[in-house]
Amino acid sequence: METTVSNKQVILRDYVKGFPKESDLMIVIASDTVELKVKPGSGAVLVKNLYLSCDPYMGILMREPSPSTLALMDSFVPGKPIAGTGVSKVIDSDDLAFAKGDFVWGMVDWEEYSTVNPAGVFKIDVNINVPLSNYTGILGMTGLTAYAGFFEICSPKKGETVFVSAASGAVGQLVGQFAKLMGCYVVGSAGSKQKADLLLNKLGFDDAFNYKEEPDLDSALKRCFPKGIDIYFENVGGEMLDAVLLNMKTYGRISVCGMISQYFLETRDRLQNLPDIIFKRIKMEGFACYDFMDKFPKFLEFVLPYIKEGKLIYVEDIVEGLENGPRALVGLFNGQNIGKQVIQVARE
Ligand SMILES: NC(=O)c1ccc[n+]([C@@H]2O[C@H](COP(=O)([O-])OP(=O)(O)OC[C@H]3O[C@@H](n4cnc5c(N)ncnc54)[C@H](OP(=O)(O)O)[C@@H]3O)[C@@H](O)[C@H]2O)c1
Repeated sequence: METTVSNKQVILRDYVKGFPKESDLMIVIASDTVELKVKPGSGAVLVKNLYLSCDPYMGILMREPSPSTLALMDSFVPGKPIAGTGVSKVIDSDDLAFAKGDFVWGMVDWEEYSTVNPAGVFKIDVNINVPLSNYTGILGMTGLTAYAGFFEICSPKKGETVFVSAASGAVGQLVGQFAKLMGCYVVGSAGSKQKADLLLNKLGFDDAFNYKEEPDLDSALKRCFPKGIDIYFENVGGEMLDAVLLNMKTYGRISVCGMISQYFLETRDRLQNLPDIIFKRIKMEGFACYDFMDKFPKFLEFVLPYIKEGKLIYVEDIVEGLENGPRALVGLFNGQNIGKQVIQVARE
């Protein structure tokens, strides 16, 4: 039985300018091997990483920190592994809350083996019958994002009209399904015909369009919402937001979850229609999912019965091998992923 192993890692080469590229990350074998036992008295938990979550905010953390980005999170450090949420198996533990063989989810470095802060990981209840990869998405921070951004910020009511951008992605597919469960009329936009078909045929959206093929976003929204939009779940920003503002109803709500079209631009889009926020008394609020950690138990109470009853579907795009992680991560920024992008690092 081996007592030490090598540790493959994904390292940030240097701060990124413009759009993140696969070559901004490199795969290395760490110079230190990993001892498969933790030191007694260390309080450490050693895990083997099974799944890693790819999230757009990780691209922001690859850039040099600025006062704006530091308000969200610290940047990654050049020369060190990048990090994100993952699902892992406990190999050895000096913390009473975790035992060898437990499955956990939480923040880990992008590597094969990690020593984690026990306060930063959650034990997975294996009696909940879902794939472990779901803890990078529907049952993790992504799920909480969709839940908090939709319910806490938008206070949806039955019969309201809801528009979701990046609707086939990790967060968007859940927001659309939550809105349907609430009895709303839901339309999603996505960047290909295949994704729009997924929204209509698998995820139960009432309507969908491929924004890349619409010559005029305002017309597309008017076609889908002749009486206007009550709730917009914002994932993309830029010209989509500008067109949405023209189509919002009075007292509409906009949950600003993300603005992926703007993160890496040298010059960001200047919007024309912001005064509509005043004219229509729109509530527009940005948020970070971790601000809602106290709602996690309430979120699970809401979501677990629907999963059990088969009323929520979760589409994942799983790529095998840590060495394919960089390509999968940067693929988020040109819409390569269909559903939640996950990397499988090792077999369960
Ligand atoms: N506030 C928070 O706490 C929080 C938490 C999680 C995520 N977010 C944000 O939520 C949004 C969705 O995240 P996710 O994890 O669900 O990612 P995702 O939707 O699974 O993946 C990103 C998607 O964004 C779309 N996209 C990329 N570039 C675009 C562009 N220039 N214009 C329009 N769409 C573009 C692509 O879909 P298409 O093919 O449809 O274009 C891509 O597949 C992101 O903006 C992210 O930053 C925020």
